Amino acid sequence: MEQKSVEVLRLTPRETAALKPGVNLICKEAGNFVIYKDPINPEEPYKACRNICKHQGGKFVQDVEDSTGSVLRCTKHGWRLDCSTMKYVNPPDSFSQERLVPELEEDGSLTLVELIPPEPWKVDARAPQDIQPGEVQLTFFAHACMELRLGDKIMFFDPWLTGPAFARGWWLIHEPPADWLDRLSRADLIYISHVHSDHLSYPTLALLAEKNPDIPIYVGDTAMPVFCKLEQSGVRLNRINVCSFGVWQEINADLRFMILMDGVHPDMDTCILVDYKGHLILNTVDCTQPNGMRLPRNVDIMMSDFAGGASGFPMAFFGGRYTKEWKAKFIATERKKLLYYKTQVVRDVNPKVYCPFAGYFVEAHPADKYIRDTNTKNSAEQLNALINKYSDHIITWAPLPGATLDLARVLDDTGDRRIFRIFFSRLAIVDPLPGTKIYKDSWDFNSYIDKINDCIKSEIFAYPDWIQVYYMWAGFKDYNLVLRMIETDDDFQPIQGGYDFLVDFSDLSFPQQRPAREHAYLEIKNRIGVHRQTVLKGLFWDDLYIGFQNRISRNPDTFHYKFWNHMQILLPQRPPDWASFLRKQREMHDGKPARAVWKPPEKNNSIVSRLLRTLARTKVLLIPGLVASLATIVFFALSIK
Ligand code: FES
Repeated sequence: MEQKSVEVLRLTPRETAALKPGVNLICKEAGNFVIYKDPINPEEPYKACRNICKHQGGKFVQDVEDSTGSVLRCTKHGWRLDCSTMKYVNPPDSFSQERLVPELEEDGSLTLVELIPPEPWKVDARAPQDIQPGEVQLTFFAHACMELRLGDKIMFFDPWLTGPAFARGWWLIHEPPADWLDRLSRADLIYISHVHSDHLSYPTLALLAEKNPDIPIYVGDTAMPVFCKLEQSGVRLNRINVCSFGVWQEINADLRFMILMDGVHPDMDTCILVDYKGHLILNTVDCTQPNGMRLPRNVDIMMSDFAGGASGFPMAFFGGRYTKEWKAKFIATERKKLLYYKTQVVRDVNPKVYCPFAGYFVEAHPADKYIRDTNTKNSAEQLNALINKYSDHIITWAPLPGATLDLARVLDDTGDRRIFRIFFSRLAIVDPLPGTKIYKDSWDFNSYIDKINDCIKSEIFAYPDWIQVYYMWAGFKDYNLVLRMIETDDDFQPIQGGYDFLVDFSDLSFPQQRPAREHAYLEIKNRIGVHRQTVLKGLFWDDLYIGFQNRISRNPDTFHYKFWNHMQILLPQRPPDWASFLRKQREMHDGKPARAVWKPPEKNNSIVSRLLRTLARTKVLLIPGLVASLATIVFFALSIK
């Protein structure tokens, strides 16, 4: 399908003549626009765009702090757009604004033309056919994981069903159905939306690969490949299919799907549109601007994220304005904005059923109590209530694990959906049986955290040269930023034997003191285990930042998009060559470590303490009858030690 151009605004000759040099904010029935009249460039006298912020659709106003007269500020979160270049200056070095094409007509009128990219689902669009009860069923498993029965095919979305995500920062709220592994391993196809570990879960995939390494998995053709760490993970999955964006993947005569990219993070985020017999299921997952906000309307089912709180900002920040009160106020406002934004997107798409998901995680580890208590999130029920306040015909579904929605029962058109919405939803949705365990109450923290903390004692860290090697490998430079990295314990207190060093990214040097020149400064305290795992395995910094494993202060208080984007997406795909580093270092130091490697204190691993830990985990200690027996066992065990 070809790209089309559409006239979106026409200013009369008089209105055009009235445009002042610099920024003009135009508000018309056709929408809100920005026109920049360039006072010094006759070659390109006008630049124009819609007055819609790329972040989350906010509106721009004049930036009172700007002396150039060309910068606008978004009223939602303060992003700033320089209209003379149509580039965002906050975050610095980040995005460009999609431009409209200004055309000055002979009569002096000005038209703005939008190039509309194709809406690829319109290629070979098909009318919905009748479907029977049981033919299309969605079963929620956990977080962003949904099982779809589509005729005789089973498809899964984003299986994170065991273990943590983002190192040790996120844990599942819900207990997935007990037979999840069998059902997942019998699927016909799996879609994985992006590289983040709450969607691409290696602990889950490792178990899956043992049962069915040949299961077909589909991902989008993102610049940062979703499975860039597959080889390194040791998980054997043999059928990864990388799909071009916006192209139907035909599974059989009834079922096809296409993967679409995100407008804000096209290099890593994707979403999916499934078509079964002409019925459309849209899953926008975590995309901020799914397909640049050009979405099919009136789909049968839509699902998306809803919760917020999926970033280290601002909870992991300290110093300056980041007081408890400021954070609480910020979070409350942000969550509300997100609710309204999601509501607007859902209303635009106008699905028959909407399901909020991909937000069911908890910072469950006791060391993260501060984050868990303060990083409040939207509830699915809150969002659903807001959607239904404005759109009472949309059936909303806050899913429980194991709950199933049957599409054919939703499509029954025998009654007014506004009046019978609750009735339809009762008919279409089957909740898990009473007594089913819905929420997790234990997470087996130690088996995952011990593996992370094994990295602490790696011999690499006996040689301080690892710092240079790692940051050269990372490849971020020519940027006026100085970073201080401090290794800490779980409470973000520096530890004896932990590293504390500076990196100057202007020339990639490693000074002992901050340079005298003016520079941006970032200080990051990192839990030592996650920090060393990130370094050793060459992982993206998501584990540290999104997983709440660090505490950050910055001066000035600026988001350095270029730096974070590099550390979160653009690191080399292969880890640093630590084997040759070690060989060289051993030679240089005659086989003796340059410094002692700090080791975490050994856990008491005697039979007695292991027994006590197991009993505590299984809560047997709560049973009074067994307390007496346990005391006897412990007494005898200690006396024979
Ligand atoms: S900064 Fe514009 S919507 Fe967030």
